[in-house]
Amino acid sequence: MDLLVRGPVDISEITGMDLEVAVKLVTKARQQLVEDGRIDKDFVTATEIYKRRQDIGKISTGTSALDMLFDGGIETQAITEVYGEFGSGKTQFCHTMCVNVQKPKEEGGLDGGVLYIDTENTFRPERIVSIAKAKGLDPEKVLDRIIVARAYNSAHQELIMQEAGPVIEESKIKLIVVDSAVGLFRAEFLGRGTLANRQQRLNKFMHLLVRTAETYNIAAIATNQVMASPDTFFGDPTRPIGGNVVAHTSTYRVYFKKSGKKRIARMVDSPHHPEQEVIFALTEAGVADLEEESKKKKKDEAEE
Ligand SMILES: Nc1ncnc2c1ncn2[C@@H]1O[C@H](COP(=O)(O)OP(=O)(O)OP(=O)(O)O)[C@@H](O)[C@H]1O
Ligand SMILES: [Mg+2]
Repeated sequence: MDLLVRGPVDISEITGMDLEVAVKLVTKARQQLVEDGRIDKDFVTATEIYKRRQDIGKISTGTSALDMLFDGGIETQAITEVYGEFGSGKTQFCHTMCVNVQKPKEEGGLDGGVLYIDTENTFRPERIVSIAKAKGLDPEKVLDRIIVARAYNSAHQELIMQEAGPVIEESKIKLIVVDSAVGLFRAEFLGRGTLANRQQRLNKFMHLLVRTAETYNIAAIATNQVMASPDTFFGDPTRPIGGNVVAHTSTYRVYFKKSGKKRIARMVDSPHHPEQEVIFALTEAGVADLEEESKKKKKDEAEE
């Protein structure tokens, strides 16, 4: 599976092996995995794809608002990109999902562990503890199933992703968080002259992430910052950084926006979700429904 994730070009670069030999090697690995039923064969009918899509795992956000936006939750085999300005709740959302993925399937989780790639030093185990407690889970057990990798520069971030395979299998990882995916690349490649280089490296990283998510059938969340774009005359003048590279590799893009104490999430780009907006809150228990909403829901349930 590692060979598949890395691909022949990478393998030939690293080992000095002929590209043709590397292609053969990867092809063999793929054939074996198809035979073992661990991945799908190259040509499949739409019916098979439809059936396979029913097997895609979903991690509930634990809120009815965001679950409505995501149509049930964050999907495996895809990257969900969350972008928004500082304090909009991206990191809080990531922390909440670290806890939710560990719940059993009946409760909206995938009973899996987390690989958390922290590039901004904003991972806080204390937040995990309070979110876990609020959800009635044992905080110590929850912390144990989160593997944190602190990335110090973009090359290190890439390396962590390249070496993730064994960790994913060993720790039964079902969610990879990259918070933030773009920050280090943005900080290191300054100035116009380096833009092409930055995009190329970022592209490599994002593809590695998406291939890992697909190959191992796990969910990936990548956060992204925004910048003001002075050329926007209508609507919101902020847009995600990373440009087309991040846009093209993420399957779902969600925009988080502050609105006083509340937060707004909008599904911006998805192959099958309608473009809509929902309102949620940031609380001690992580992302949550607005108080009025959850009170109303509880009342409705009680009446039923
Ligand atoms: N324990 C808590 N209880 C309630 N709200 C909290 C708690 N901790 C953080 N918050 C809220 O979360 C906000 C910070 O959100 P977060 O760190 O997720 O932003 P971000 O989108 O990751 O920003 P950045 O771009 O700077 O990384 C705070 O402004 C606060 O409103
Ligand atoms: Mg953050």
